[in-house]
Parts: sequence; structure tokens; C-alpha cells
Amino acid sequence: MMGASSCQVWSLQAQWLALLVAVSFTIPATVLGCYTSIFSFGDSLTDTGNLRFISSSQRPDCLRPPYGSTYFHRPTGRCSDGRLILDFIAETLHLPLVKPYLGIKNGDVKDWNTQQGVNFAVAGATALDGVFFEEKGFDVEEAAYYSLRVQLDWFKEFLPSLCNSSSSCKKVLGNALFIVGEIGGNDYGYPLSQPMSLEELKTYVPQVVSAITSAISELINLGAVTLMIPGNLPLGCNPSLLTGIAVKDKDEYDKSGCLKWLNTFFDYHNKMLQTELNNLQLLYPHTKIIYADYFNAVLQLNHSPEQFGFGKNVVEVCCGGGGPYNYNESAVCSYSGAVSCDDPSKYVSWDGLHLTEAAYRWISKGLLDGTYTIPGLTTSCTSQFVTSGDFSSNYAMK
Ligand SMILES: *[C@@H]1O[C@H](CO)[C@@H](O)[C@H](O)[C@H]1NC(C)=O
Ligand SMILES: *[C@@H]1O[C@H](CO)[C@@H](O)[C@H](O)[C@H]1NC(C)=O
Repeated sequence: MMGASSCQVWSLQAQWLALLVAVSFTIPATVLGCYTSIFSFGDSLTDTGNLRFISSSQRPDCLRPPYGSTYFHRPTGRCSDGRLILDFIAETLHLPLVKPYLGIKNGDVKDWNTQQGVNFAVAGATALDGVFFEEKGFDVEEAAYYSLRVQLDWFKEFLPSLCNSSSSCKKVLGNALFIVGEIGGNDYGYPLSQPMSLEELKTYVPQVVSAITSAISELINLGAVTLMIPGNLPLGCNPSLLTGIAVKDKDEYDKSGCLKWLNTFFDYHNKMLQTELNNLQLLYPHTKIIYADYFNAVLQLNHSPEQFGFGKNVVEVCCGGGGPYNYNESAVCSYSGAVSCDDPSKYVSWDGLHLTEAAYRWISKGLLDGTYTIPGLTTSCTSQFVTSGDFSSNYAMK
């Protein structure tokens, strides 16, 4: 176990190390060992298997082959051919892959210990509660009932098995990395399923962002100190949306074939999220709130795919059933009529909605070396250890 002293060494040599990190990608283990566990929340970008314990099957179905074919060699509930960003972060931090909460609860995960962290993310989850969409007249899928609020309730339910005293909770939560998101992408899927103007779509953003920030406040009040909050992906490059919202005017697309107005919209969401995160950081100076810029990390892959080893046609789907983007609603990945490409590592999009392990690997690299985290994820280690008890905890102690 890494003590606070190794973090102080990091603090003194931070500038020198930052230089080293920029040149090579070898981050010293002593630096990354600073987090003792990971707790995560979100949707299919982060779900490592909670989906398996939820009754309804989804389209595409991440529980069926060829999901998992590249790395786990079986479907695990991860919506990709292999590891997700969360897996790469855990590996780099020398922590075990983060186990799904429902797997632990159902006794499927044996010998769980606090070091293994817990993942509360559910594929399809929204930031806002399902009832919000129901009231607006949308046909709500079951997954919307595993909103961020529900995931937080699970976390609170689980807390007594993590720690039993104020001091032990402070230690476990204070030394953990909390990853809250990406979440919110699915919230916009409901309004986007109908014809809607950009201005109308924008009216949803304050509510979605507020659901995320109140979850963060709550986690901080429970004892979280270091939180990484990813923004939305540039879904204007997402083949399923590109297929659904195809327009004739070529000027509406950028040079990579992404829909410009959609990316403008998701950038708008991210800007508002960042503004609110800055406010939270001022409100809670003892914490480290890190924004993870998934948007620009993915946009970089879409704009220069060949530079990163991907094929030229970056909006083409690896596992799909035909059509201009190889994304076909009637033959989505894991259903009949869809086949996987031979080499998923040449594709950014795995199934039209989710990315390949290869793309997630590149994004993780950009997060961990600080290119796409504000402030940098690794440098946050220095002030992250909780040693003195100067914050109040409001959870019930037994
Ligand atoms: C907390 O106490 C409960 C009940 O005594 C016990 O089951 C649980 O294992 C304890 N948790 C920890 C982390 O010690
Ligand atoms: C989409 O899938 C259906 C069902 O497999 C198939 O009949 C159709 O031809 C496919 N469309 C394209 C454009 O390939």
C-alpha cells in the first residue's frame, strides 16, 4: 500500500515528472498507486456488467457475442469488443478491474474487498430520472430507471460494507477515485428521437447538468475527495445518430463526416457542465474535481484517424449490418444480419453507438497523461490524501 509519503515525493518532483510523462507514457507506479480504489457511475460507456442483472434485453445486446471478442473472449456486459476506459484506468492505477455492483449484490462476485472498488454504471442509464421523460410523453426504456439518482442510492446502500466508522469511511472514500460519467448522453437520445430544433434541445441541458452536479455534491458530502467527471462524446460523429438524422446538405458535415450542429450541441452541454464543475470546486476547496474531456479526445480520433492507426473511413461501424455507415437498425451488432469486422482495432466505432477497445485505449491514454483532463488526473494525487478530519459527513453511522 502506498502511503502519503510517496505522494509527497511526487509533489516535490511534479514538474520533472510531468516532463517525463509528456515524453514517454511510463508513469511511475508510485505516483499512480495513490488511489486505493475506484467508485464509478454512468451508462454503457462505463458499465462492466451490471447489465447482466437487469431483465430486459437491449438492442444492440451487449450480453451476446461478438461483444467481448477482442479481450475477454466472451460477453461480460461491456458494450465493446474489449476493455472500457474504466478498465484501462484501473489497470494503469494498478487496481483490479472495477466490479459491477449488482454482481456483488447477487453473490456473483466472490471475495470482494474494498480495494476492488465498485461500479454502479448501467448501460442505457440517464442522468435524469425516468419519470422526467415519461412526463414529457417519451416511451421510456427500462434502463432510464437506473438513473444517476438510483445509482447513488445503491452507493449509499453499499456504504456500510465499505466502512463502519467515520474515520474508516473518511479513509476509504477520501483515498478513492470517483468517476461520475459519462452520463447524460442517453438523456438527449429521447428528445433526439423526434424532430427537434437545436434551441429546443438546449432547454434540456440545465436539468441534465444539474442532475450531475447534485450527484457530485452528494458524493462529496459522503466523503469523496477526488472526482473525475467526463463530458459527453461528440455524438455528431456517432454512426447510429448519423444514420438516423441523415441530411442532404454536405455543408452540414465536417471534413470527417460528423454532423456539425450535433457536435455544437454536445459541446454546449460540456461547456455548461464545466462551468458548474468550476463552481463546485470553489464551493468545496478541499476536493479535486477533474473534468475529463471525452469530447476532444474522441474528436481527435475522428479528425485524424490514420495518425492513430485507424482506417480512413472513421464513421464506419465495425460490427453492423449494412448501410452507408454499416449501421442498420434492423440488423444491429449481436443480432442476425450483423457481422463483426476482421480487425476491430482499425475502427473507432464498434457497433454504431459504442467505441472499440482500441478507441477507448487511446482516450484513456489522453486522460492519464493529462492531455484531456483538467486539472491533470495524475497530478491530482498530491492533495488527494485525507489526513485530517475537517469535513463533516452526513451519512448515518451505526
Ligand atoms: C460493518 O458492520 C456490519 C454489521 O456488523 C458488517 O456486516 C460489515 O461487514 C461491517 N463492514 C466493515 C467494512 O467492516
Ligand atoms: C438491413 O438489415 C435488414 C435485415 O437483415 C436487411 O434486410 C437490409 O437489407 C439491411 N439494409 C442494408 C442497407 O444493408
